[in-house]
Amino acid sequence: MNMTTKKDVKTEVAELLKPILADQHILYTKLRNYHWNITGKMFFNLHTNFETLYTDLALDIDEIAERIRSLGVYAPGTMTSFLKLAGLKEEKEDNYPVASAMVENLINDYEYVVIGLKNSALKMQTEYSDEVTAGYLYSLAQKYEKHNWMLHSLLN
Ligand SMILES: [Fe+2]
Repeated sequence: MNMTTKKDVKTEVAELLKPILADQHILYTKLRNYHWNITGKMFFNLHTNFETLYTDLALDIDEIAERIRSLGVYAPGTMTSFLKLAGLKEEKEDNYPVASAMVENLINDYEYVVIGLKNSALKMQTEYSDEVTAGYLYSLAQKYEKHNWMLHSLLN
């Protein structure tokens, strides 16, 4: 008989959370990079907004990591593991995009994270019946979609 035990389900859900945690770290680092290195007419606006976004993201990162721990699994906590697990790409070394390109990159990254959140949430619901974790991921997706609306609005 091939029965999935409760422990297996928790591990599977935690495994789905790990790449999300990793992508959040890539995005967090990118936001800090852009906060420091933004130039141009939009400096004050974007410098401040990027800080707001990474400060908010730091809280989400903590929630995801501690959810992994609540499921009985160790949370990845090194840059090496984040880079291995992440789907998002870091900004290139010594590359400082113009303000509008920074915003576009962030929009693309948030979009990518939202897709991952929704896919993982659906899997958690349908395959592992973990409505609680799925619900949290959907709420994050909703928030990041809102961030993207604001970032889009900055460009127009
Ligand atoms: Fe700062």
